[in-house]
Amino acid sequence: YGVPGTAQERTFIAVKPDGVQRGLVSDIIGRFERRGYKLVGLKLLVPSVGLAKEHYADLSSKPFFAGLVDYMTNGKAPVIGMVWEGPSVIKQGRVMLGATDPKAAGPGTIRGDYCLSIGRNICHGSDSAESAQKEISLWFGGKGEITNWTSNNAEWV
Ligand code: TYD
Repeated sequence: YGVPGTAQERTFIAVKPDGVQRGLVSDIIGRFERRGYKLVGLKLLVPSVGLAKEHYADLSSKPFFAGLVDYMTNGKAPVIGMVWEGPSVIKQGRVMLGATDPKAAGPGTIRGDYCLSIGRNICHGSDSAESAQKEISLWFGGKGEITNWTSNNAEWV
């Protein structure tokens, strides 16, 4: 499970606090379900500052980093962290999210349908196999937090 390029490829998708506060959790989960992807991990939490900084470590030198970490961790609303599984889920997850800057995100994408501000762009998805591996183990460390199960979609999708 989790091997990129196989039918069990996995990615980390999150609904950020603005998406939770705006009531978009079920929509975002529904899009991945209806596409045929399988939910294998799910949690709701206010991430610690340490977790958010590690998650966005590549961006630590950016001017927006402090604001980004505060937005993720200040507890105005929690984050939904998920692991989704299926063919090309890393790349297709990013396509379903839309461009980082929602003003450039196409209609039919989550960001293109629901937001306009880059600093409040509702959702996160791993951008590569390396990021997916890092983020899944960062957000889902505990034993038994990810479940292998058989979806009825398997023979159809
Ligand atoms: P990034 O990893 O570049 O994008 P993505 O979330 O699509 O993988 O950036 C992480 C988050 O940082 C992004 O979702 C929103 C925030 N951000 C800003 O607030 N301002 C910016 O100029 C950029 C590039 C990102």
